[in-house]
Amino acid sequence: MHPNALPFSPACLRNQEPILTLLRQWLAPEARVLEVGAGSGQHAIHMARHLPGVRWQPSERKESLDGLAGRIALEGQEGLAPGARVAPPLMLDVTEPHWPAGPFEAVFTANTLHIMPAACVPQLLAGSARVLAADGLLLIYGPFRYGDRHTAASNQAVDVHLRQLDPAMGVRDAEELQAAAAHMGLHLQADAAMPANNRLLVFQNSSEGRGG
Ligand SMILES: C[S@@+](CC[C@H](N)C(=O)[O-])C[C@H]1O[C@@H](n2cnc3c(N)ncnc32)[C@H](O)[C@@H]1O
Repeated sequence: MHPNALPFSPACLRNQEPILTLLRQWLAPEARVLEVGAGSGQHAIHMARHLPGVRWQPSERKESLDGLAGRIALEGQEGLAPGARVAPPLMLDVTEPHWPAGPFEAVFTANTLHIMPAACVPQLLAGSARVLAADGLLLIYGPFRYGDRHTAASNQAVDVHLRQLDPAMGVRDAEELQAAAAHMGLHLQADAAMPANNRLLVFQNSSEGRGG
């Protein structure tokens, strides 16, 4: 794929460095990371360029896989941090029963929960709990609301827009997500403020997972 034809997300360019700062704090050296809904692949490449030893497994739905694979093929071989690797992307829709085998020390996903239908969110949680190692981390970046309150007018506008497109889309409630995750053995460890009124939620797997 020609570099000019690669999918590109301006938001990724803005948020990749703040996300990296948090991942440095949370990921153990040589962590195996499954990224769900990896989109343009910019996060995968950026993290692998800056996290020594990380083993990053991007994944996407079928319809977005080609662009992601194009970026990983072009940028995923050179210029990575020592020992870091980016695997060829896998096809994964969170509604599928069969996820990559794992175990993974972390599952990472950015700006996906408000895009996928609400009914998919429990499937993302359940699938993550299945493939995470014991004590593994689920890290979710994006906009969230708390109770009936949005954290910013811009997030509210995005929420209204998405729900007009499809009532199943929309900015998720962090407290509801926390409760649903706890039912699956994923317990909130941190809820970090990020630029542009986003959050990074970190859950730890206390179920047996694949590594238990
Ligand atoms: C706004 S894009 C974010 C892409 C990328 N993570 C980023 O930060 O730029 C939302 C992503 O969610 C993915 N997505 C939506 N529904 C999904 C599902 N059921 N399973 C897996 N990924 C899904 C889409 O394919 C899309 O790549």
